[in-house]
Amino acid sequence: MEQRSQQWYGGNDRDGYIHRAWMRRGLPSSAFDGRPHIAIANTASDLTPCNMHLDEVSTSVKQGISAAGGIPLNLPTVSLGETLLRPTAMLWRNLAAMATEEILRANPIDGVVLLGGCDKTIPALLMAAASVDLPAVVVPGGPMLTGHFRGTPLGCGTGVWQLSEEARAGSLTQEEFLRSESSMIRSKGHCNTMGTASTMACMAEALGMTLPGIAGTPAPDSRLLEQSHATGELAVELVHQGRRPSTVLTHRSFHNAIATLAAIGGSTNAVVHLLAIAGRLGVRLSLEDFDRIGADIPLLVDLQPAGQHLMDDLYRAGGLLAVLHEIQDRLDPQAVTVTGKPLVDYLGNAQVWDDTVIRSRTAPLLEDAGIAVLRGNLAPGGAVIKPAAATPELLRHRGRAVVFDSVEDLHARLDDPDLDVDENSVLVLRGCGPKGYPGMPEVGNMPLPSKLLAKGVRDMVRISDARMSGTAYGAVVLHVAPEAAAGGPLALVRTGDPIVLDVPARRLDIDLPAEELEARQPSEASAAGYAAPVRGWERLYVDHVLQADRGADLDFLVGSSGHEVHRESH
Ligand code: FES
Repeated sequence: MEQRSQQWYGGNDRDGYIHRAWMRRGLPSSAFDGRPHIAIANTASDLTPCNMHLDEVSTSVKQGISAAGGIPLNLPTVSLGETLLRPTAMLWRNLAAMATEEILRANPIDGVVLLGGCDKTIPALLMAAASVDLPAVVVPGGPMLTGHFRGTPLGCGTGVWQLSEEARAGSLTQEEFLRSESSMIRSKGHCNTMGTASTMACMAEALGMTLPGIAGTPAPDSRLLEQSHATGELAVELVHQGRRPSTVLTHRSFHNAIATLAAIGGSTNAVVHLLAIAGRLGVRLSLEDFDRIGADIPLLVDLQPAGQHLMDDLYRAGGLLAVLHEIQDRLDPQAVTVTGKPLVDYLGNAQVWDDTVIRSRTAPLLEDAGIAVLRGNLAPGGAVIKPAAATPELLRHRGRAVVFDSVEDLHARLDDPDLDVDENSVLVLRGCGPKGYPGMPEVGNMPLPSKLLAKGVRDMVRISDARMSGTAYGAVVLHVAPEAAAGGPLALVRTGDPIVLDVPARRLDIDLPAEELEARQPSEASAAGYAAPVRGWERLYVDHVLQADRGADLDFLVGSSGHEVHRESH
């Protein structure tokens, strides 16, 4: 089979001459004899702290590609650092996906190894690879090692939320709070809770898009480099076999990812990302699939934010394959991986070494732990909640709405001693969806009012069109669709309205007569802080972004353009 790269390098005409001549800087003539050219889509960046080490990973991948007879080509691509990017990294996920897709298609490559880590990077890379459909395999950059503060493990992300709430409640001094800052990030790697980065690494493996067994390997662990080398070798094989994302990413593999998401207690952000990836492939995945496939799967992994341990504990306890072994009966046996073999073929030798970290099916951390999909007159397009992260008593709750029209409004009024709020109230935040913010930030886990924290309240029902950090927790209803800025009923809610959350019944409603809601006008205040962008990416994004139930992809990026390019300029 002739390689795609030979369309550039093959032949002795002027074009072949130009393509080869400019690439000879370091490459011998044999590089152009038809062997696979493999790009390493590398999201290493000094401004993406979680991915800073990926150049080292890239070196091992390169060595693996070379050892298998391929030509490795480092391809730095758009990188997204969750903690730094303004207004929110999610605004740029589709930009990173689009840029990577286009640059993969435009270049003379036959396959690609995708290096990601921080939250949005693996989703963006998978979306890109799916739309180009060249042979592709992911290397997740791996979580950081556990940091400690005052002698106890400190989960990054989750620890910040806990410590900042303690500081606000007055049970932790400001000095101690700041001292914890240098203890949290102990090594290279991404967040070490079961946050979005860890979740998406596990999703990539459950989807079959990694070397089985690699997800969750800590970033500083030498086995990550060993597996990166093996992934480089595998990439060459993928090209020879012609195995593409469209052959791996089927409804069966999404089934496995959703089952895995429940068993690991993964981030709600995975719902948005998996829907977006599926949309690129024409795989018909709906919000309800998450509930149908995952809702009754128990939470087996005792990791923060739902539990107590951290990612290197999971790896020590047997890793993702040991978790999957426990739920093997719930996995699709025919879903294949990039190796060509089904995922379940890798579970035979998987073993749990510490059942306090990876629980058995008979003693799970929580029964029925998947993501619950809610509908009702407040969320006709759906909303999600992660019951595992919520206070059980709040999963069925009726309370008076306390409405905030924007994040700024929330911050301005939340700690007002005169705010009419109690522990039974339902905090409602709008203007934070894909269009409204724009970019659907992780602000859905609203902080609790200080006066309630001081009373010892640690959880309340919170509802928004935003997302929440995968490291966060609480009775938090997210991704309400349509969002307020897209005309959803969230824009109609007024402070004092009775809100009914019934997770067992999968309902989210305003308990008011339909006629009354129909007669209302959307809150003008929720649009007041929103200045529609006039140019640039934000303009394109706001004009074309889909709602959360469609993965918040851009409408014109749904689907695939393949990898053929028929024209050239010289
Ligand atoms: Fe990068 Fe959490 S900030 S994974």
